[in-house]
Amino acid sequence: MRGKFVTFEGCEGSGKSTQLRLLSEYLSSSGVDFILTREPGGSKISEEIRKIILNGKNVEMCDECEALLYAAARIQHLRETVAPALESGKLVICDRYVHSSLAYQGYARGLSVQYISEINRVALESYPPDITVFLDISPVAAFKRKHGADRDDRIENLGLEFHEKVYRGYKQLLDKDPYICAVDCGGSKYETAEKIKNLLIERQIIT
Ligand code: TYD
Repeated sequence: MRGKFVTFEGCEGSGKSTQLRLLSEYLSSSGVDFILTREPGGSKISEEIRKIILNGKNVEMCDECEALLYAAARIQHLRETVAPALESGKLVICDRYVHSSLAYQGYARGLSVQYISEINRVALESYPPDITVFLDISPVAAFKRKHGADRDDRIENLGLEFHEKVYRGYKQLLDKDPYICAVDCGGSKYETAEKIKNLLIERQIIT
């Protein structure tokens, strides 16, 4: 049986890495056969593309190039890592996926959502996630918690206004897609982890 595909989304500083670590620990201790992977990255070529996209020195990169590089990294990662794991029945947990492109490149950069959907057609049509967990915390609250941005990261450097647009983009996606579930992460990291676990049980991703 094909494995389930779970993706995680959120703004910078939403605590995604911590939650993915806590979830991985829980899944391992429960004996679940899963892989944890990430975008952009998760395969050799996609990790190379990641370096180009996120390199703070690549200031000339135009928005379309950025969107196409994310899409290129994504399809390679899907073919090489995600699809084989799903085919072998594994649960695949992915740190960011196509909804990041819709929120960041589509809504925040202002490229049309139709264009982003088109260049990510295989991902959207052939590999829709069984559930997308959106870690819901406003960029202002997230920035405060994180004590500012990582200065070498091209995307993190974009400032609060950009990240507010990303957040609003995610909210629009949430309104349209019942497979995206918002998890309020205003509480402690353990409270959020518990909410995520319960959501995955409720949606029959894990037992
Ligand atoms: P990363 O350091 O992994 O950030 P985070 O821990 O917040 O996930 O860098 C990934 C960056 O790439 C992040 O700023 C979001 C951005 N991104 C896009 O803009 N579009 C995309 O399609 C993806 C997958 C990520």
